[in-house]
Amino acid sequence: MSTPEAIRTIVEQLVEPFTGRTLASLHMLESVSVEGDQITVDIQLPTPAFPDRQGLSDRIQEACSSSLGPDQTLRTMFTSRVVGKDSGGRIGLNIHNIIAVGSGKGGVGKSTVAASLACGLHSYGCRVGLMDADVYGPSIPHMMSATGRPGAAESVDAEGNKLMRMEPIDVDGLKLMSMGFFIEEGQSVVWRGPMLHKALTQFLKDTQWGELDYLVIDLPPGTGDVSLTLAQQVGLAGAVIVCTPQQVALLDAIKAVDMYQKVNVPVLGFIENMSGDIFGRGGTRKVAEELKIPFLGDIPMDACIREYSDRGEIMRMLTEENPARDALRGVCEQTAMRIVEQIASKPSGPVLEIL
Ligand SMILES: Nc1ncnc2c1ncn2[C@@H]1O[C@H](COP(=O)(O)OP(=O)(O)OP(=O)(O)O)[C@@H](O)[C@H]1O
Ligand SMILES: [Mg+2]
Repeated sequence: MSTPEAIRTIVEQLVEPFTGRTLASLHMLESVSVEGDQITVDIQLPTPAFPDRQGLSDRIQEACSSSLGPDQTLRTMFTSRVVGKDSGGRIGLNIHNIIAVGSGKGGVGKSTVAASLACGLHSYGCRVGLMDADVYGPSIPHMMSATGRPGAAESVDAEGNKLMRMEPIDVDGLKLMSMGFFIEEGQSVVWRGPMLHKALTQFLKDTQWGELDYLVIDLPPGTGDVSLTLAQQVGLAGAVIVCTPQQVALLDAIKAVDMYQKVNVPVLGFIENMSGDIFGRGGTRKVAEELKIPFLGDIPMDACIREYSDRGEIMRMLTEENPARDALRGVCEQTAMRIVEQIASKPSGPVLEIL
């Protein structure tokens, strides 16, 4: 016969394979309870996008099996709570993790990846926002079939003061904000640096995001102003860098890493997009290894991605059967887990990475 204490000791010492940390250090063991011959292990996952729950459940079963009495059975139940960096705290927002999606180069699929990341995390049940920071070429509204003009809503800040904020456009519960909602289709935005800075700050601060587990930000191409603005404004949970396997794109990505490191933003990892026949495969993983940056996965070059995107159905791309779905969901899981790891490696609790 096993006691809850004995089971607790065994489970707490198990190592979560992705982070290489014990379940105890990740605060994942909620409780162990016994009812008759039934032992229940309650695990609180650090994100609903936790990879391979079944594998974890199997490992718990295996580790405890020799300690169980002949009639005792053990089951593992999962709940989840997103651990966060309080990314939005400094500017009065209740957003746990802000993830910037960038690259050094244009056209590598940043917007596709950013929208996929947001839709993927949303499909796991996380509370998600998606901000299109590409004010010159906003593409998120089209990819998400989102139309309309954000209205104004009264809200209350942390000090209890009333203020007006913009209501994000809601697509099945996913909250979107983009300059695309404020300009007519076919129009262009002609702004100088300071206005750009102001618009981005406003998008972030003056949007009624509510409480979010993740806010994904689609950055415009290049490593300049916008990333710096964001790094100064919020404590980014980290940046995800999208590359294609080509040499030039990789060199640009290396520069992007350098920039994020200079402004103290953790690089969550590299993603290889358009991986496959035309551009080759594997280049990004190799560079990631050389730079000691995590590799979050590769997304195949596949016509279905462009088609879903053109039809404005990125959300469906993450849920229905297609050749890209598993790779995209894998990238979502890896990104979420890198944030967990980042937080676990800084045991002092929520950390703001501010210049
Ligand atoms: N893995 C893929 N397979 C096939 N097509 C893709 C893939 N990834 C992106 N695309 C297509 O490539 C084009 C460019 O993608 P996207 O707009 O996401 O790039 P971007 O990096 O955001 O570009 P920009 O620098 O202009 O903002 C789009 O038509 C998109 O549908
Ligand atoms: Mg884009």
